Amino acid sequence: MDAEHMGKDLERVLVTEEEIHARLAELAQEIWDHYAGEEFLLVGVLKGAVLVMADLMRALPGSAPMDWMAVSSYGSGTKSSGVVRILKDLDTDITGRHVVIVEDIIDSGLTLSWIRANLESRGPKSVEICTLLRKPEAAKVQIDCRWVGFDIPNEFVVGYGLDFDEQYRNLRVVGTLAPHVYS
Ligand code: XMP
Ligand code: MG
Repeated sequence: MDAEHMGKDLERVLVTEEEIHARLAELAQEIWDHYAGEEFLLVGVLKGAVLVMADLMRALPGSAPMDWMAVSSYGSGTKSSGVVRILKDLDTDITGRHVVIVEDIIDSGLTLSWIRANLESRGPKSVEICTLLRKPEAAKVQIDCRWVGFDIPNEFVVGYGLDFDEQYRNLRVVGTLAPHVYS
């Protein structure tokens, strides 16, 4: 799929590249200040958070290690079931460490609640969440997310790591898909 085609498949741009970079820079500074010199581990959730992680960590004023987890939540459907399976676990032991979960999007919040509880059971010093996007549905479950990039409407979005059938992750913006893509 060429770039022109990819662009035409978008119906509406919700967040531009400039807005994403500016907001991630703010969040990076807030995260850095929050830990006040103590080390924290960034834990990305594959695959959607790859681009958020790359830009967020480069915007940090200093060094921070990262690790990755992969979970399956949606399966083939489009609604989160809350049934989560670990496909790839962390490489590192988080006992006694500050952890920041880095996510692309919180929709129902079910996936992240599960991940957070799972990580908290491993005896970390703390667990916080940083997500680029959050949908209103997320407000329905009790999920305490300290750092949120943008609250967006309850629509399916792609780009900047988010996919439709594994496509569009490399779009530089976040947007909604045109109806012709689904049909
Ligand atoms: P829940 O509902 O458990 O789901 O918070 C979170 C995960 O679901 C995926 N997700 C999306 N992926 N566009 C996407 O490409 C979307 O609009 C969308 N909403 C949810 C995503 O993997 C997220 O981590
Ligand atoms: Mg996804």
